[in-house]
Amino acid sequence: VALPENPRAVVTGAGGGLGRAFCLQLARRNARILASDVDLATAQSAVANLGIESHAMRCDVSKVEEVEALATEVERRWGGVDLVINNAGVGVMGDVGEIPIENWQWIIGVNMWGPINGCHVFAPRLKKQKSGHVLNVASMAGLVSSPHMTPYNMTKAAVVSLSESLRGELARHHVGVSALCPYFFGTNIARSARGGDETLRGLAQKMLDSSDLSPDDVARIALEGVDRNQLYILPHNRGRWMWLAKRWLPGLTDWLTPRIVDAQMKKAREAAATVALPSGEK
Ligand SMILES: NC(=O)c1ccc[n+]([C@@H]2O[C@H](COP(=O)([O-])OP(=O)(O)OC[C@H]3O[C@@H](n4cnc5c(N)ncnc54)[C@H](O)[C@@H]3O)[C@@H](O)[C@H]2O)c1
Repeated sequence: VALPENPRAVVTGAGGGLGRAFCLQLARRNARILASDVDLATAQSAVANLGIESHAMRCDVSKVEEVEALATEVERRWGGVDLVINNAGVGVMGDVGEIPIENWQWIIGVNMWGPINGCHVFAPRLKKQKSGHVLNVASMAGLVSSPHMTPYNMTKAAVVSLSESLRGELARHHVGVSALCPYFFGTNIARSARGGDETLRGLAQKMLDSSDLSPDDVARIALEGVDRNQLYILPHNRGRWMWLAKRWLPGLTDWLTPRIVDAQMKKAREAAATVALPSGEK
């Protein structure tokens, strides 16, 4: 079922790149938005000047009671919710065994417990309402895993799995579930990520900066996917090719993926070394 006119939406991580874009695209649909973020001021600014009915709340998605408070607030204001966007997410870079355990705990708290809390809190309400949609923001990293970002890949794979299984539970209640799986696009996620050396962080930033889709494009395509009740929403062509390759040629994907990443890292290291040389030296 397509989103209704004037939808009531809850957005987590609304202060970031994609969260803001969701608010903007939803405003174009004349939505009522409850925007939340662990950083309240950013959520407030995401919905300021949109010319729609909105409210901003602080919410750390890793804490179930704070997500519960979002549900209470949206019910109090608008009597229910048509779209829950579990968008908040963070990045961790580095290699298994070297990544501090605190970074694992942090990313699992936000990227896994966030969507779990969102689904746990809103699923019973949506079932009762017999309408609505849950849009979980996963990633291409949840479908195809590259080295040096295992915690991110793993949490996003969990979000894909959560969405697949929940969809089967909610369909008969007329509630849709989608997993959004974008490839890289330009937001603040690499800058706020933890871990990784300079080369890895630089490479991640370069991938974000070179995206052919903006956060607005990704949000618009995601909402169109929700209208069509698509389970997997893959906005990037490149992502669709990667996923196809993994399913049809898993051995080749397994062989190629680390080699591509290694070659990119080597190139990035060489470029950094050239810049570091004093002028005239070769
Ligand atoms: N940018 C990309 O290339 C990309 C690709 C695929 C998926 N994604 C996913 O898109 C989503 C949005 O990320 P983004 O790219 O806009 O990054 P971003 O860093 O710009 O925004 C993330 C937002 O989440 C908020 N946040 C962090 N921890 C939180 C918590 N505990 N509770 C609530 N909010 C919290 C941050 O304050 C920030 O406003 C994430 O789930 C991310 O994994 C991004």
